[in-house]
Amino acid sequence: MEERTESTLTKKETWDSTFDHEILNFEDTGDEGEVWFGEDVQQKAIDYIQDNFSAKDMHVLDVGTGNAAFLIACREELDLENLTGIDYSEKSIELSQKILNAKFGDDNIITVKQGDAFEYLEEEKEKYTIVHDKGTFDVIYMMSEDNNHDYVKAIHFRMKPEENSRLIITSCNCTGSELDGIFLKEDYFEKVEEIKGYRTMKFGGVIGQNVSTCVYKPLRKE
Ligand SMILES: C[S@@+](CC[C@H](N)C(=O)[O-])C[C@H]1O[C@@H](n2cnc3c(N)ncnc32)[C@H](O)[C@@H]1O
Repeated sequence: MEERTESTLTKKETWDSTFDHEILNFEDTGDEGEVWFGEDVQQKAIDYIQDNFSAKDMHVLDVGTGNAAFLIACREELDLENLTGIDYSEKSIELSQKILNAKFGDDNIITVKQGDAFEYLEEEKEKYTIVHDKGTFDVIYMMSEDNNHDYVKAIHFRMKPEENSRLIITSCNCTGSELDGIFLKEDYFEKVEEIKGYRTMKFGGVIGQNVSTCVYKPLRKE
């Protein structure tokens, strides 16, 4: 497997080779692979949804779902019923599908699809109440800052324009105020809160960066 460094993390082949390796691990040992930035970080997003939403049938999209760990937690801990994950790596989707089959068999209700975030967000018909991104915007941000605004607009377009819709985004490259600088530009989103209280973590081989999670609400656009 290719070593993961900041520059290789922007390449799809790195993710394909990461998930290819994780498929073998899963088949050999049942290990479901990495939860990026750690389980405690994922748990904060789950706790936020639990504390702020009661509908079980709201539509949730996980962008860059990896091994679908967030969606599985939404199902197992929150009983949510409409869960979709997308990832541009077909190997991520293969791994996710294997894990979902092993965990839920015929009772699986989580949908995972291969697709580039930009294309999916622009072209799919479904609108979502919750969009979750953990570590995916980091990859997009590392590729080129020119992509940032297109990503903000594409996510906004895919969200239900309702008072209680939320984007929950976790980054290790951007602080909360840097995320605000990107996501609050041109009034696509309004800040709801920043989720605090994380330990230090590891990303791209570098230890000690802080992770930031911000929650945004989509604003109506003409
Ligand atoms: C740091 S990992 C995070 C995985 C997962 N969200 C988690 O928290 O465990 C980044 C993920 O984003 C995916 N990814 C990166 N760029 C993408 C893009 N343009 N469209 C879709 N998925 C993308 C990668 O394949 C990888 O699964």
